Amino acid sequence: MMLPDLDHLLARFKATGQETCFHGRHVNAQIYAGLDGTNWRLADYEKRGGYAALKKVLGKGGGEAMTPDQVVSELKLSALRGRGGAGFPTGLKWSFMPRQFPGAKYLVCNSDEGEPGTCKDRDLLAFNPHMVIEGMAIAAYAMGVKLGYNYIHGEIFEIYQRFEEALREAREAGYLGDGILGSSFSFQLHAHHGFGAYICGEETGLLESLEGKKGQPRFKPPFPASFGLYGKPTTINNTETFAAVPWIINHGGQAYLECGKPNNGGTKIFSVVGDVNAPGNFEVPLGTPFAKLLELAGGVKGGALKAVIPGGSSAPVLPARVMMDLTMDYDAIAKAGSMLGSGAVIVMNDTRCMVRSLLRLNYFYMHESCGQCTPCREGTGWLWRLIDRIEHGKGRKEDLDLLESVAFNIKGRTICALGDAAAMPVEGMLKHFRDEFVHHIEHKRCAVGAPAADAARAAEATPA
Ligand SMILES: Cc1cc2nc3c(=O)[nH]c(=O)nc-3n(C[C@H](O)[C@H](O)[C@H](O)COP(=O)(O)O)c2cc1C
Ligand code: SF4
Repeated sequence: MMLPDLDHLLARFKATGQETCFHGRHVNAQIYAGLDGTNWRLADYEKRGGYAALKKVLGKGGGEAMTPDQVVSELKLSALRGRGGAGFPTGLKWSFMPRQFPGAKYLVCNSDEGEPGTCKDRDLLAFNPHMVIEGMAIAAYAMGVKLGYNYIHGEIFEIYQRFEEALREAREAGYLGDGILGSSFSFQLHAHHGFGAYICGEETGLLESLEGKKGQPRFKPPFPASFGLYGKPTTINNTETFAAVPWIINHGGQAYLECGKPNNGGTKIFSVVGDVNAPGNFEVPLGTPFAKLLELAGGVKGGALKAVIPGGSSAPVLPARVMMDLTMDYDAIAKAGSMLGSGAVIVMNDTRCMVRSLLRLNYFYMHESCGQCTPCREGTGWLWRLIDRIEHGKGRKEDLDLLESVAFNIKGRTICALGDAAAMPVEGMLKHFRDEFVHHIEHKRCAVGAPAADAARAAEATPA
């Protein structure tokens, strides 16, 4: 197999002044600590203490082996919550796996990372792949699983190749395969690359795709813990969730919990993007003030802070005054009416037109709907057409109520949460920036008078 070469990617980061995750502006970094873009190989990872947690779990590090129950207990104590979007407690999820189930059981890593604004998992796979492998091996031990897959987004093929290479190294060193490190525990792990559809990040859409079918989500229940891959018990976690596991085992669940705040253990990687001077991935403890995160990302670029989408494009927008008083953790952001989601923090300055921004967001959901359920398939198109006519000076007064009604009738009425993801940004924008939509309708132009937005709008032909 051709050796993966990500040098051009590094060169591109450097050429554009982007530092991705190689900067000294993380706070208490556990996952990104010490990465420089070149030290991703097994030997480098071992120098950083890599695979010590797996050895500890298997009793190969000088102490007693941990029982699977002890591993799950540490995870529960740590208050690690799934980093893929919903923030579900990881230890609890692991305890749902019927460990004694006699047939096949599977472990799946969700590296589909399609949420707009999010770019953390690809850095992990490219620059610290063994941490994900070690986390998965520990998870497999805890849940009595012998076979796992890492489903990697289809548009980052070099990163898939790199992960394959890391897998090869891990197998050769005895960290994967039969009788790991001389123990009775066996775990085979394979990489699988998708084709770049956002919906394949939804866990049951992912499982369908992994089985070789169209990536269309399944009705739940049954949940993957009882009916997952090939109908067998399956646990799915996000890449960053698995990467958090070795630190928890090495330092203990209590230490991880104390790193963040109650119910929000540990550090979280935030992809800070949009109107900031130094965009990139920042690993900080959960509970860090948003103001601090913004400072780490070099502050707002091109104007004053207007609004932030705090958790990937599905999360409702929050205005600057709310954000500047918020801490970055699941509970605080939920209380403010949004969600931490995948951790993509989309920063918008005061030249941004909210109608135009919502139009762009909505186009994405319309495009990515898998089409299985009517409210999502039709509703995302209706939303887009309504916002499009408001943006292009053809809006009617009643359109705002209509927008709200369509969003309301999508939410909670679909097979998967993509419908909610399309509806929530609409509700958030109308809640906080309704005046801009009204201005568009009444004056047939933008309230912020952003010249770039006006020029772009003028250059566009309104689609039929
Ligand atoms: C439309 C949609 C897209 C999603 N995309 C991703 C994704 O790219 N990566 C991810 O980890 N989770 C994604 N999720 C969430 C997964 O369904 C699932 O909750 C997650 O992988 C569980 O892992 P966690 O508990 O570690 O967060 C998506 C959910 C929806 C509804
Ligand atoms: S909500 Fe949308 S993406 Fe999800 S299953 Fe229904 S049609 Fe497909």
